[in-house]
Amino acid sequence: ATDLQLHGQSVLVTAGGTRERLDPVRYLTNDSSGKMGYALATAARDLGAQVTLISAPTMLTVPAGVAYVGVDSAEAMRTALLARYQTAQMVIMAAAVADFRPVTVADNKIKKTTADYTLTLTKNPDILAELGQQKHQQFLIGFAAETQHLLTYAQKKLASKRVDMIVANDVASAHAGFNHDTNEVTILQPNVEPQTLPLASKQVIAQQILQIALATRRNQQQK
Ligand code: PMT
Repeated sequence: ATDLQLHGQSVLVTAGGTRERLDPVRYLTNDSSGKMGYALATAARDLGAQVTLISAPTMLTVPAGVAYVGVDSAEAMRTALLARYQTAQMVIMAAAVADFRPVTVADNKIKKTTADYTLTLTKNPDILAELGQQKHQQFLIGFAAETQHLLTYAQKKLASKRVDMIVANDVASAHAGFNHDTNEVTILQPNVEPQTLPLASKQVIAQQILQIALATRRNQQQK
């Protein structure tokens, strides 16, 4: 085939919402269904890549021909990524990684009390920023999920995390973001005008993201 632009290359894709445990039966998570990440894994596979999907729990079926690594917490996702990062050509962080986790994980089910219960959270590692710091040959794509000031906040992530691309996702929009089958995103890259991909299925958006990433990478390599 002529369009196997990722033939033989190692592509890591993250998906889903991480689970941050409180006790043996409870956790904090978010609304990510994994659909965007799974669509990206499928699109990269269709371009000939050797895809590893590092995913928090979802209701989805793992795409055929994709290696699957199941994780729960942000910490576990970080470990799985770092173990595979050095040899990867492209990394796509579509997962909704929890920014905080409970300070302590109770060994036993937390008992109901008469008084209010206060949960203390501590910061999780910023995996994307860490991958940016360690970046060599990898083309690194991050997402930015925002409910306000989409492009301002996304630009900040682009500038501070040393990524090659940020996919800005307005998650307050009616047909885009968490759990929808469709998405609408704006692509930000250093020194390039923002490029909006209009509402389409997550499969189509995934293919478009990869085409833009590949075009940018070709330009980088010619410089
Ligand atoms: O899964 P779906 O239901 O299909 O929904 C898709 C989606 C809305 C989850 C997806 O399109 C999306 O926007 N994913 C990123 C969600 C997110 O965590 O955004 P953020 O702006 O909080 O994080 C910015 C980037 O840093 C993301 O690439 C995230 O993976 C990464 N991150 C975040 C926190 C953290 N501690 N470590 C990280 O690496």
